[in-house]
Amino acid sequence: VPGPAYRILTPRLVLRCWQPSDAPLLAEAVTASVDHLWPWMPWVHSEPEDLEVKVQRLRGFRASFDTDKDYVLAIFNHDESEVVGGTGMHPRLGEAVVQEIGYWISARHIGRGYATEAAGAVTRAGFEVHGLERMEIRCDPLNTRSSAVPRKLGYALEATLRGNVRGVGGGMRDTQVWSLLRPEYADSPSAAVPVQAFDAAGRRLL
Ligand SMILES: CC(C)(COP(=O)(O)OP(=O)(O)OC[C@H]1O[C@@H](n2cnc3c(N)ncnc32)[C@H](O)[C@@H]1OP(=O)(O)O)[C@@H](O)C(=O)NCCC(=O)NCCS
Repeated sequence: VPGPAYRILTPRLVLRCWQPSDAPLLAEAVTASVDHLWPWMPWVHSEPEDLEVKVQRLRGFRASFDTDKDYVLAIFNHDESEVVGGTGMHPRLGEAVVQEIGYWISARHIGRGYATEAAGAVTRAGFEVHGLERMEIRCDPLNTRSSAVPRKLGYALEATLRGNVRGVGGGMRDTQVWSLLRPEYADSPSAAVPVQAFDAAGRRLL
C-alpha cells in the first residue's frame, strides 16, 4: 500500500500531518473555539493549557503518523496561516483496513462546508491511497451538525450503539456508527470531492 498521504489539497483546504511548530496556531484556533467544542470534544476540557503541552502533543501526533500508528491531520487554509480545524484517520477498530475518521472545525470557520470537504478528502485518501475496505464516522446522535457530514458524503447509518461511551457530562451516551464500504465508495459523493494527495517526499499520490 502506498502512502501515507502526508499532504492533501482540496479546493479550499490543506490537510497535513501536524508539526510541533503548529502549536501557536492550534492554540489560537482552540482558544477561540472552547465553548463550541466543549460539548463534543473531551480533549478541550484541559483548556486552558500551556503551549508546551500542545507542543508535546503535536510531537506525539507526528511520531504516530511517521510510524503508521495513527494519522492525525491538521486542517489549514491554503496559505497555512490559520488552523481551520483537525481531522484524521484512526486505525483503532481492530482491522488495519477499517479506520475511523474524526473531525472538528474552529468556531470562526463553521457553516461553510469545511467539515464535509475535509472528511470527504480523507475518505478519498483512505480508499484510494491507503487501500481501506471500510471507513467509519462515529458520533453522538445529539450532535446533529456532525451527523450531517457522513450523511452528505454517502455513509450509511448502520447502527446506534446504546450507552457505550462515557459522554463529556460523565454519564454514558449512545453512538451512531456511520460506515462506507469500498464497493459503495465509487458511487458516493465522497468520490467526487476534488483532491490532490502527496506522500512524505512530495510525490503525487492522487
Ligand atoms: C460538526 C462540525 C465539524 C461541522 O462543521 P462544518 O464545517 O460547519 O460542517 P459542514 O461541512 O457540514 O458545513 C455545513 C454548513 O456549511 C454550509 N455551506 C456553506 N458553504 C458550503 C459549501 N461550499 N459546501 C458545503 N456546505 C456549505 C452548509 O449549508 C451547511 O450549513 P447547514 O448545515 O446549516 O445547512 C462543527 O460544527 C464542529 O467542529 N463541531 C464540534 C466538534 C464536533 O462535534 N466534531 C465531530 C465529532 S463526531
